[in-house]
Amino acid sequence: MSVQQRVTGQFRQRFDQAPPILIRAPGRVNLIGEHTAYNDGFVLPLAIDRAIWLALRPRHDGEIRVHSLDFDEVARFSLEGLRHGIAAWAEYLQGVAWALQEAGYELRGWEGVFAGDIPIGAGLSSSAALEMAAARAFATVSDFTWDVPTMAKAGQRAENDWVGLNCGIMDQMISAGGRAGHALLIDCRSLRTEAVPLPPDTSVVVLDTSTRRGLVDSAYNERREQCEAAARFFGVPALRDVSLEQFQTRAGAMPELVRRRARHVVTEDVRTLQAVEAMRRGDRDTLGRLLVAGHASLRDDFEIANDQLNAMVACALEQEGCFGARMTGGGFGGCAIALVEAGAAERFTRSVTACYEAATDYEASIYICSAADGAEVVPAV
Ligand code: GLA
Repeated sequence: MSVQQRVTGQFRQRFDQAPPILIRAPGRVNLIGEHTAYNDGFVLPLAIDRAIWLALRPRHDGEIRVHSLDFDEVARFSLEGLRHGIAAWAEYLQGVAWALQEAGYELRGWEGVFAGDIPIGAGLSSSAALEMAAARAFATVSDFTWDVPTMAKAGQRAENDWVGLNCGIMDQMISAGGRAGHALLIDCRSLRTEAVPLPPDTSVVVLDTSTRRGLVDSAYNERREQCEAAARFFGVPALRDVSLEQFQTRAGAMPELVRRRARHVVTEDVRTLQAVEAMRRGDRDTLGRLLVAGHASLRDDFEIANDQLNAMVACALEQEGCFGARMTGGGFGGCAIALVEAGAAERFTRSVTACYEAATDYEASIYICSAADGAEVVPAV
C-alpha cells in the first residue's frame, strides 16, 4: 500500500469521510552546492519521489489536531497558545504556525493524519517536507496564496527560531518549489530559481549509509559561524561575495581552519554554476567530475564527511557507468548520491550495496530516485 493510500485510509477511518484536502510535500537530494545556502550562495537540489502525505479537513476553531501514523502519536495545539514541549515532530508544525503568524498571516485550524517515506535524519529533509506540508495545509484552509519563497522563509524561520537549527533555506525552497524531471538552481540571496533538466539517460541514485546525525546539530551551527567569521575577514556580508580570485589573493593571511572552510564555500559556488552549464550541455562526464571534486572539498576542507560516506562514495566510483558521486545534505552521516548511466543503475545498486557492506559494519539502503514536483494539493482519490 502506498503512503498516500495509507494516509487516505486512516483519515477515512477516523473521520468517516474522504479527506477534503490531501497534501504531498517531498524530501530532496542536493546535486551540488553544499553548505553554500547560508552563505547566500548557489545550490542545485531536486525534490525526490519520497514525501510526506497529509490528509486534513478544516476546523472551525483555532485548534490543530494531527495524528502521525509513523510515530503513532497525536499532537494537539491551539493557534493562540503555541508552546514548546509537545512531541518533537509536532514542533515543526507549531514552528510553521508561529512563523506564519509572525509574518502576519491569519491562520485557521485543521485536523488530520500524516505519514511519510522519507527516512528521518538521513539528510533527505524530512523536516523541511513536514514544514512545507504544514505550510501548504495552512495556506489551503486559511485561504492564502502559495508563494514559494515566502513559504520557504516561514519554514526556515520555524527551524531557526522555533526548533533551533540555524539551517539555510535550500531544503524548504526545494520542497516547496521542486519541478519534476529537473533540479532547481536556487540563488539563496535573491531566492530566484531556474529549473535545469537532468541529463538524458541518467539516474540519480540515493545511497543511504545508515549512519545518522542528530537533528539539532551543533557542528552544523559551528560551520556556519566559521563561514561568518570568514566573511568578516573579507569585509563582505556573506562568502557569496568573495570571488575565487579575491580568495586566492588574501587567503594566506587567514587563520588556517577558517581558510579551509571558506575555500570550500567559494569553490563550491563555482562548481555549482559550472554544474548548471554542464547540465545544459547534457555533459554528464563534467557534471560527474564536479560532484567528485565537491565531495573532496567537503571531506578535506569542510570536514563533514564521515568514514561511511567516504566508503560509500569510493564504492560508487568503482562501478561502471558511474559519472560521479558525493555526500549530500548537512553531512556527518546520512546519504550520498551518485549520477549513473540509466541502463546501469540496477546493477550499480547491487554492486555498491555489496561493496559498502564489505567495507563497513553498516547496511546500505539504496534507491534510484526521480525528480518530483514540490509541495502540492493532490486531488483525493
Ligand atoms: C541542511 C540545510 C540546508 C543546507 C544543507 C547543507 O540541509 O537545511 O540549508 O545548508 O544542510 O548544504
